[in-house]
Amino acid sequence: MEERRKETVIRNTDVADHYFTEHPKSKPRYGLVQTSLRGRRFEFLTASGVFSMRRVDLGTRLLIESMVLPAEGSVLDVGCGYGAVGIAAAVFNLSLQVMLVDVNERAVWLARQNATMNGAHNVEARRGRLYEPVNDIVFDCILSNPPLSAGMETVKAIISHAPEMMTSKALFQMVVKSKIAGERFCSLFEEAFGNVKVSARESGYRVLVSKK
Ligand SMILES: C[S@@+](CC[C@H](N)C(=O)[O-])C[C@H]1O[C@@H](n2cnc3c(N)ncnc32)[C@H](O)[C@@H]1O
Repeated sequence: MEERRKETVIRNTDVADHYFTEHPKSKPRYGLVQTSLRGRRFEFLTASGVFSMRRVDLGTRLLIESMVLPAEGSVLDVGCGYGAVGIAAAVFNLSLQVMLVDVNERAVWLARQNATMNGAHNVEARRGRLYEPVNDIVFDCILSNPPLSAGMETVKAIISHAPEMMTSKALFQMVVKSKIAGERFCSLFEEAFGNVKVSARESGYRVLVSKK
């Protein structure tokens, strides 16, 4: 009886953690995702309480497969989760300096482990909200699979503050679900940058790109 009560408590705590919880309280259950991205093998340590622990999400995959990276300079993955997008960018161009940011401390810890595991020595991961942890840097490229479950205000802030975080001619690339990417997201990109195009679409997702 005592055991059953304990089990229920643990389950309830698990449910209380969203993937965007800042300090997950649930005991982590770890996983390992082994996958191929742009023809190269990657391994990601994942955990409960972090976005898409069982596999690289389809939207994440589309962003990685289609992202355009600068020849040199700095890249930001905002809302990095366990780091798939930014780490792939860092591995595909080892001369880039790649910054990963997430509000979830467990995600940031995983992203650091994953950078090392995948030989991405040109990566730094910082914990905090939106652009706060990197407000002393401007980037040549910003990538994001945004936290829609955290609410539209957060996603709008990622888009509207992006230009001030970017060098001239830098690209802002975000993957969104096609169902909601229509008018609503395009007009947010237009407002922030004055331009937007769809660079890829597949599996119910599309990648929107704006140039500063
Ligand atoms: C949809 S997930 C994408 C994770 C990862 N980029 C991927 O594609 O697997 C969005 C991420 O944004 C993070 N997030 C939510 N609110 C945030 C905020 N205010 N600032 C920074 N990151 C945030 C969440 O913790 C989550 O890891």
